[in-house]
Formats: sequence, C-alpha cells, structure tokens
Amino acid sequence: MIALPYGSVTLVGAGPGDAGLLTIRGLRALERADVIVADRLGARPVLDQLAAEGVRLSAEVIDVGKLPGHHRVPQEEINALLVRHARAGREVVRLKGGDPFVLGRGREEQLYCEAEGIAVSVVPGITSAISVPAVAGIPLTHRGVATAFTVASAHDPIDRLPGGSDHTVVLLMGVGTLAHTAGVLAHADRGADCPVAIVEDGYGSGERVTIGTLGTIATLAALRQVRNPAVVVVGDVVRLSPHAARAPQGSWSEDAPGDRDETPRPWPASPRRLPQPSTLLAERPRVPVRSDRRNLLP
Ligand SMILES: C[S@@+](CC[C@H](N)C(=O)[O-])C[C@H]1O[C@@H](n2cnc3c(N)ncnc32)[C@H](O)[C@@H]1O
Repeated sequence: MIALPYGSVTLVGAGPGDAGLLTIRGLRALERADVIVADRLGARPVLDQLAAEGVRLSAEVIDVGKLPGHHRVPQEEINALLVRHARAGREVVRLKGGDPFVLGRGREEQLYCEAEGIAVSVVPGITSAISVPAVAGIPLTHRGVATAFTVASAHDPIDRLPGGSDHTVVLLMGVGTLAHTAGVLAHADRGADCPVAIVEDGYGSGERVTIGTLGTIATLAALRQVRNPAVVVVGDVVRLSPHAARAPQGSWSEDAPGDRDETPRPWPASPRRLPQPSTLLAERPRVPVRSDRRNLLP
C-alpha cells in the first residue's frame, strides 16, 4: 500500500478572543500552518491582534465565521474544507473560539477528518466558560461558597439543573433563553434571590457586566439590551465580583435605560454562611479594566 502524502489537521482553541490567552502550543501551530480555518468568535480577533503585534503568519486564512443565529458556512462544508486542504498535503489549523471540546463541535470535526484518513491533533484552549467570568472577578468555585460548577448550553431551553446556589451554573449561548432559564432555576433549590451575572463580549471592546438575581435578571437584561456573545453565571460566587460589591449601593442601576424606580433591586442581605460584605470588599479580586472597555458599573 502506498502512503499518501496527506497533510494534517490541528484543532486549536483560540481562547475567548484575547491573543494573550492563546497557548504557546497554539501559536506554534499557527506559525507552522499552511491554511487557517477560523471561526468569527474568539478566533478572528486573535488573528487580528497577532497581526497588529507584528506576528507574521504565512498561512492562508479562511474565515468560516458564524453569525449568531445562523451558520455562515455549514458544518458539513467546514468538514469538507478541512479534508480537502489536508488531502492536498497542507498543514491545516482549525482555529476555534475558547476550547474546541467545550460546546465547540471539535470532536465532530476530529472524527470526520479521521474517518477520511486525516491525522488530527488537538491543542486545548481557554474556554469562555471560565475565562469570561474571570474578567468580572467571578471565580467559579471559592472556599466556603461553591465547590462545584456546571457548564451548560442554554441554546435550547433547559428543563432543570441540579444543585443550589452553592453549585455554580455557567450558561453559554444563554441570552435568547434567559427568561426561561432564570424561571426554571428560580423554581428549583436556588430560589429567586440567587445572584446572577451576565458578562457580555468578554475581553472585547463591548465588555459589560450586568448583575441581578434569578428573579430580576431577565428584566435587567431587557432594559440593558444585553446581547450575545455573553456568559451567564448563576450562584453565590457572583457576590464575590467587585461589580456585585458595588451593586447594593445602587450604582449599577444608574446607567440602565428606563425608569430608575422600576429597575429591579439586586439581592437582599447575604445568607449567613457567606462572608460578610466587608470581608468581600477586603478580599475582592482586582480586575484590571482597560480604558477602551465599557464598564457597566460606573
Ligand atoms: C458555540 S459556544 C462556543 C464555546 C467555546 N468553545 C468555548 O469554550 O468558549 C459560543 C458561546 O460561548 C460564549 N462566549 C464565547 N466567547 C465569549 C466572549 N468573549 N464573551 C462572552 N461570551 C463568550 C457565548 O456564550 C457564546 O454564545
């Protein structure tokens, strides 16, 4: 049997859209690539930032970016594109936002290519599920507050998620179904007072944080015209955010459109098992805020 001179495909996680959060292994793969097949979210901004920083990539870049709500290039065409270029002997990087294996269809692409005889390797990326809450100073676990977290797609309505407010829930693709999801989670063990944060466009120019509760977040999101891409964080860990520390003073509501008196308040006094507000303020994480970022909480 004659071995065909196929190239290969490397699935690379680009992280949430900041070149500083691309891994070194991912960068090396980009430098070696003949062709880069890039998503819009997370991947394209990283390529643009690398170029702006003088990193020269010789690869041809094919943008298969998906706009919210519809696929610009269907998945089958992306699969076929990867195989076609690899069969032509090229080193192909499939650059995907966040991590390829977290709600990213990475494994589907890998299986398709392997079934066509193409060798595939994977370079993990920093998922938005963890890194985007971090820009708002929200850890997904914190001693005495939460010891577990669940990452879920809320693209389709969620029926139930286990756990109480000490079990952090991170929702991706959750803006369109927010009212439904908040209602479902509030009716279970978490309750309507459970804190919620929405972080829009993490690491991007439209970065913005909205803080509320399961009972108020859908109204707040509508008032503030929250948009994708966004990560929704549900649970007591939201109280640890510097944005939340300011929320009880009401500062968050001042830039909300609409009648201020109708704006829902944040949550009532913290449950006793949580650190008291003074402790939270003392240990709150320092969140570097770039001057080009719109900070929601003045
Ligand atoms: C199809 S999922 C892909 C997730 C990706 N594989 C990851 O690990 O981050 C896309 C969703 O990720 C979230 N997302 C990705 N990047 C984001 C960012 N920079 N800011 C806010 N949300 C982001 C949004 O919920 C978006 O709808």
